Amino acid sequence: MKLNGVATRSLWFEEDGRSIGIFDQRRLPWAVEKIRISTAEQARNAIAEMATRGAPLIGAAGACGLAMALTDDSSDISLDSAWELLVNARPTAVNLRWALERVRTLVAPLPPSERAVTAWKEARDICDEDAAMNHAIGVAGLELIRKIAERKNGNPVNILTHCNAGWLATIDWGTATAPIYMAHDAGIPVHVWVDETRPRNQGALTAFELGGHGVPNSYIADNAGGLFMQQGQVDMVIVGTDRVTANGDVCNKIGTCLKALAAKAADIPFYVALPSSTYDVQTPDGAAVPIEERTQDEVRFLTGPDENGVMRRIALTTSPARNPAFDITPADLVTAYITDKGVLNGPRELHEALSA
Ligand code: MRU
Repeated sequence: MKLNGVATRSLWFEEDGRSIGIFDQRRLPWAVEKIRISTAEQARNAIAEMATRGAPLIGAAGACGLAMALTDDSSDISLDSAWELLVNARPTAVNLRWALERVRTLVAPLPPSERAVTAWKEARDICDEDAAMNHAIGVAGLELIRKIAERKNGNPVNILTHCNAGWLATIDWGTATAPIYMAHDAGIPVHVWVDETRPRNQGALTAFELGGHGVPNSYIADNAGGLFMQQGQVDMVIVGTDRVTANGDVCNKIGTCLKALAAKAADIPFYVALPSSTYDVQTPDGAAVPIEERTQDEVRFLTGPDENGVMRRIALTTSPARNPAFDITPADLVTAYITDKGVLNGPRELHEALSA
């Protein structure tokens, strides 16, 4: 996708062959700042501190971090300790473990001298495959949007999304946003209700992305979506996910489940977009997913630039706070899963298509 008119991915490989570049997503959308990452520790910190974020993207960054560790030291000890360091950077999105496991399984049997080059190639493949999977999700989801557009008499299809499941959360295209970008590019009128997604306001990233691509959108308080659904102002919901468990339960950004319940009550289709790498057949159901609990200060303070561009922190309360970062949407609230293997109706189809 494009950032300020220039085609880019959210993670790129530097020419030195041992570093990557990312956007500092803590500064977006206010400032476009790039960070160079050259060590496993730096990769771990970028993931944990959310300079880079989104399930597929932290998987790709983790794989690169492992390749960096092997570039410095390709021994078994280095492989194991870097794997451990990186896998614990964030607990919820399964893509991180999936990508690290993929690299480790490949390189562990190799002589140490061959490990780094193989790990870097695998990290690149993970990135390219993620972009391709998201493109496939877009192609599948486009048809769902097209069908709704056919009964809208030229009026925009109103799509509600939560968090940022856009290209900034993946290598390219995004998951929930890929069908939206494709619909817009195909000339289908769309309008997106963007949940702000407190406390970290990833919705601001989604609005930034959509605006950059010319997709009409409105930024709404997290609590507004239910009303718009009751008023017939939402035609469909599309969200991304950090992990879909074997039974089809969906772990995604905190607040997603409330939107699914509201959609069910208003008889609005609720779609979950995911690449195969986000399906976790080893975790039986949502109750078994480790939910990340972040610092209470993310809830107790608002952070953003003032009119001079200086970052400020404003206190909202002195009460103690809780800050679970994700929640679980039960499978029976999901209309269908939009995947790189097509639109899958229900956990059984999901399992058959993605558990191979
Ligand atoms: O805490 P974040 O910003 O990493 O959470 C991201 C989300 O919850 C996204 O919706 C999810 O990763 C899907 S990304 C394609």
